[in-house]
Amino acid sequence: KQSPIIAPSILSADFARLGEDTAKVLAAGGDWVHFDVMDNHYVPNLTMGPMVLKALRDYGITAPIDVHLMVKPVDRIVPDFAKAGATGISFHPEASEHVDRTLGLIKDSGCEAGLVFNPATPLNWLDHVLDKLDLILIMSVNPGFGGQKFIPSALDKLREVRRRIDESGRAIRLEVDGGVTADNIGQIAAAGADTFVAGSAIFNAPDYQAMINRMRSAIG
Ligand code: DX5
Ligand code: ZN
Repeated sequence: KQSPIIAPSILSADFARLGEDTAKVLAAGGDWVHFDVMDNHYVPNLTMGPMVLKALRDYGITAPIDVHLMVKPVDRIVPDFAKAGATGISFHPEASEHVDRTLGLIKDSGCEAGLVFNPATPLNWLDHVLDKLDLILIMSVNPGFGGQKFIPSALDKLREVRRRIDESGRAIRLEVDGGVTADNIGQIAAAGADTFVAGSAIFNAPDYQAMINRMRSAIG
C-alpha cells in the first residue's frame, strides 16, 4: 500500500472562481486535483472539458490532475486531455469499445492510466489488463453528481481489489470516489484504499485545511 493521497474533487468547487478555489484547496493540503468530466450521455450531468483543464494549468496549477472521464465514447477525447495537461486519465470500461486499446492510447499520450468501477460493475474487467494499470478507481456512488451518500458495498470491493493488487506485486493505486467524509475515511482506508477523492466534504467545509487534516489523521 502506498502513501495516502487526498484528491479534492473540484466538481464541488466554485466554478466561477475555479482557479482560485483550486489553488486554495491545494494550499490547504490537497495532493491531487480530481477532475470530473461528465457528458450528459454516459452520465446525467455536464461539467468540464480539456479547455478548462488547460486554463487551470495556465493559471499556475502544477499539482497532478487526476482526470475521471465519465464520457462515451472515450478514445477521441483522450489526446485532448493529455495535451491540456492531465497527469492521469481514468475511464469506465463499459464506456469504451476496446478497453485494452484505450489503455494503450492513454499510456502512449504520456499519462497514467486508470480503470473505474461503478457500484454494479464487476471486477472481472481487471482480468487481462492489470499490467497496464497505474490506478484502479472504485466508485462508492453512482457517477453523475457530488454530495451523494457512500454505498457500503464498496468496502468489500475495495478489499477484493486490494488483494488482487497485492498479489500482482505492482504499484497500482487504489482510489475511492463518492461520499467520502472524515467520518468514514478511516474505515475506507482500512478496506485498502490509498487514494481518496472528496468533493462536497471538503468544499462545503468552512475550513478546507482543517477538514483535510481531519481526514488525514483518520486515515492513520
Ligand atoms: C461523482 C464524481 C465524484 C464526486 C464526488 O460522479 O465522480 O468525483 O465529485 O463528490 P462527493 O465527494 O461529494 O461524493
Ligand atoms: Zn470522480
